[in-house]
Amino acid sequence: SARSVAVGAAMSVFVTRRIPAEGLRVLSQASGCRVQQWDSEEPVPRAELLAGVAGTRGLLCLLSDRIDREVLEAAGPSLKVISTMSVGFDHLALDEIKKRGIRVGYTPDVLTDATAELSVALLLSACRRLPEAVEQVKSGGWTTWKPLWMCGYGLSDSTVGIIGLGRIGQAVARRLKPFGVRKFLYAGSGPKPESAAEFGAEFVPLTRLAEESDFVVVTCALTPATQGMCNKDFFGRMKKTSVFVNTSRGAVVNQEDLYDALAHGQIAAAGLDVTTPEPLPTDHPLLSLKNCVILPHIGSATYATRSTMAVLAANNLLAGLREEPMPHELKL
Ligand code: NDP
Ligand code: DGY
Repeated sequence: SARSVAVGAAMSVFVTRRIPAEGLRVLSQASGCRVQQWDSEEPVPRAELLAGVAGTRGLLCLLSDRIDREVLEAAGPSLKVISTMSVGFDHLALDEIKKRGIRVGYTPDVLTDATAELSVALLLSACRRLPEAVEQVKSGGWTTWKPLWMCGYGLSDSTVGIIGLGRIGQAVARRLKPFGVRKFLYAGSGPKPESAAEFGAEFVPLTRLAEESDFVVVTCALTPATQGMCNKDFFGRMKKTSVFVNTSRGAVVNQEDLYDALAHGQIAAAGLDVTTPEPLPTDHPLLSLKNCVILPHIGSATYATRSTMAVLAANNLLAGLREEPMPHELKL
């Protein structure tokens, strides 16, 4: 009927990727919701994104989709809700989005445990040189048990510095504490005594965090203030025996400066789950270093977490379309 066509048009949404089935089901089973999807494992080409959003009311996107003014203009005034299947929102032009009165949903909390767990796995892989050691077994480099071979650094009695003691930063500290960490430091835009109390963590300037930490773990958001924050000066202050881990966003790190620090023994090792760009070209200099462990942005990649993220992103979108409170709205 004309009425159902009108309702359908009012609830048209564009989904920019193949997502876990549970999430898509929420949308396809919602009455009056008409779903168009870029049904592929690979990112939607820009032209298809611009065409796909035209005239839709809702957009469900991923962190790999840059949602800027061009996309918003291609969508037109019909676009009322953007729901990203991520907790990070540095890919969204929030000023342009706000200007247009568009609401935004995101997925905090549900991926905190998975990402913290991966951060710990990456830290241990880097400080105990796991990929290098596995390679030695495969290549025949393992000739006998040697007292001075394949040694690394452990967490017992260490100082751990967390950059960005937010949801994930706290979950990392909670997991590292039982390894025998002696002292937690943290840096951020200001002290957060309530979050820090559980770990007895001390708020310090970034420079002091670099100088005193045996392990630095970056779990902050990417913002103009944090972009390129881990640079030559930062790595220059770190100890030669310390290990750097980043599970936030690649652009928080100046990668040339990190390469120099690793190549010249200014720091002991690094573990990165995020890089610039993503994917990192296979001939990138960082990949030639034995003391750099690089993962393909898999922080939240457990089956359960990805499914929950997709369902939350779908429910955020629907709530926005129905002009109801979202389960997790990003307040602009
Ligand atoms: P939160 O918002 O809870 O934490 C972000 C933290 O960043 C806050 O504690 C904030 O501290 C801190 N921060 C902001 N500005 C600065 C600054 N100038 N210097 C240092 N710290 C700063 O977010 P989550 O913990 O949920 O997620 C953090 C980030 O992790 C996401 O934004 C995303 O980019 C990334 N992420 C990566 C994943 C992966 O797969 N590798 C998975 C999930 C998230 P303050 O309160 O003091 O401002
Ligand atoms: C996010 O959600 O921001 C992560 O980078 C991926 O889960």
